[in-house]
Amino acid sequence: MNLILLGAPGAGKGTQAGLLVEKLGIPTISTGNMLREAIHNGTEIGQLAKRYMDDGCLVPDDVVLSIVGERVQKDDCRKGFILDGFPRTVPQAEGLEKLGIGIDHVVSIEISDDEIVARMTGRRVCLKCGATYHVVANPPKAEGICDSCGDELVIRDDDKAETVRHRIEVYHAQTEELKVFYKNKGKLRLVDGKQSIEDANHAILVAIGAAK
Ligand code: AP5
Ligand code: MG
Repeated sequence: MNLILLGAPGAGKGTQAGLLVEKLGIPTISTGNMLREAIHNGTEIGQLAKRYMDDGCLVPDDVVLSIVGERVQKDDCRKGFILDGFPRTVPQAEGLEKLGIGIDHVVSIEISDDEIVARMTGRRVCLKCGATYHVVANPPKAEGICDSCGDELVIRDDDKAETVRHRIEVYHAQTEELKVFYKNKGKLRLVDGKQSIEDANHAILVAIGAAK
């Protein structure tokens, strides 16, 4: 199954992708995590991406398309994959089609702009394995430490209030139109992102026909 998780910043794409990996047995491809890893490793792509990400702007389409195009060729993607945060623009979605990659379902996790701001202030992330927590809604077992890999949890550089506001604007201006793009192809499934993490996960499994 090839799945896209669409949604505004903070909608819960990364959180839900983490749960779906376990339930569906397919990997997540998160362009945000891959770009943060590239920044962490000081690669050429990382240096380029940082200039855009720090301002809450999108990294150029050709850069993310080449990263994703390479990643989906790997062996672990043979049974399918979950795209988290990609595509982000219509040209990226068209680029995916040109690569011959078919998509079964596009799940849009719906959340209001006000809710996003509240969530971002409590988010903590692991830069080593990409796991995401929230100090109230989804705390780690030990404060400041990742449950999965034991690394330190940090606040993302782009979670500053003014950057979050700009990321929300970018979502409405450049990404939201993908809902129409995929609705016209009969692939769009809407899921309420305001419910609890567990309930949202169940709703996604129902929406993609994978609930037990
Ligand atoms: P990216 O990393 O993809 O960030 P984003 O889309 O802005 O989304 P977030 O990761 O902030 O939120 P999320 O939906 O994953 O929510 P989460 O599960 O963490 O991209 C970052 C940047 O990279 C972009 O701005 C851009 O510069 C660049 N980039 C990435 N992909 C790109 C692309 N394709 N093209 C161009 N540029 C690209 O949840 C948020 C918080 O809420 C957490 O604390 C979580 O614990 C909590 N939470 C989750 N669900 C619930 C719930 N149901 N109830 C209560 N709390 C919840
Ligand atoms: Mg994320």
